[in-house]
Amino acid sequence: MESIMRNFFLFLGKSKAVNTFAKKFGHKLGASKFVAGETLQHAIETASRLNKDGRVVTLDHLGEFVSTQQDANASAQMILKTLDAIHDSQVESHLSLKMTSLGLDIHKDVCLKHMYDILERAKKYNIFVRIDMEDFAHCQVTLDIFKELLTHYDNVGSVIQAYLYRAEDDIKELDAYHPNLRLVKGAYKESDKVAFPDKQDVDTNFNKIIKLHLQNGNYTAIATHDEKVIQQAKQYVDEKNISSDQFEFQLLYGICEDLQKQLVKEGFKVRVYVPFGVDWFGYFMRRLAERPANVWFVLKNMFK
Ligand code: FDA
Repeated sequence: MESIMRNFFLFLGKSKAVNTFAKKFGHKLGASKFVAGETLQHAIETASRLNKDGRVVTLDHLGEFVSTQQDANASAQMILKTLDAIHDSQVESHLSLKMTSLGLDIHKDVCLKHMYDILERAKKYNIFVRIDMEDFAHCQVTLDIFKELLTHYDNVGSVIQAYLYRAEDDIKELDAYHPNLRLVKGAYKESDKVAFPDKQDVDTNFNKIIKLHLQNGNYTAIATHDEKVIQQAKQYVDEKNISSDQFEFQLLYGICEDLQKQLVKEGFKVRVYVPFGVDWFGYFMRRLAERPANVWFVLKNMFK
């Protein structure tokens, strides 16, 4: 049952028609639990609030379903504005982005041009930019662009998904660049030809790649709400005497608030991923897919 619901939410999240329809409900569905708001101002206010209690953030302007150059340009402009706002407000924030929002599906070069503009502006402000990892169909091209960007910029990182069979090989190959990587379990619906179908195997691989990337001496953003994985990571850095400036924990806005605060209290660096923007639907569906129990929360909001 859980896997049917998971697939259903991931299917809805990819549907442009449902996305357009859902926008009309505004945040009535309860998306505001996971999304900071629709405007840049909402995002900066949220970042500032989180900073005050010791959490740093990464802001993500949600932009899915980009199919024209015009959409990609608008999305790039919004990301540049976000960088300006981070700089002007002095909030402690990185920036996260998805390359499909910059026209990756139109042409690689459209995306690449925007990436250079964004990284140039971010470098001027000393802001780190993380390229989120999307579905498997975009994995190779994302890593190819990432490697090209790494030869010009050191303020860029990307993401490796533990559910992919290729994750370990990617970490080994990328080691030559000493990259700053965010490691996650993976949020998309993938075939068992490319990804572990069993959660247990994903968790085992997740622990393995976290250790591998740390052991290689590279900066590791451990992005999870799984307390067992967090516990194992804490134990590993302790055993190996890995310095606290070589890793951080990352969690999503609105999820496991107590755990976020507890980690800060224990002295760990905690970064909260804060999405904002009008295109919240796909992101929201991925969060529901991760935890179908969230559906009750949605239903409660609909009938409030
Ligand atoms: P798991 O799913 O096993 O959950 C562990 C526990 O966390 C659950 O039992 C529950 O208590 C809580 N939890 C998890 N998800 C929840 C939810 N939606 N609502 C409420 N509670 C929840 N993926 C990707 O493919 N590409 C990417 O670029 C990123 N980027 C990214 C950044 C950051 C900062 C995070 C934290 C995650 C991502 N992800 C991602 C998503 C990631 O791949 C994964 O889908 C989620 O983190 C959920 O997996 P967990 O590791 O939390 O474990």
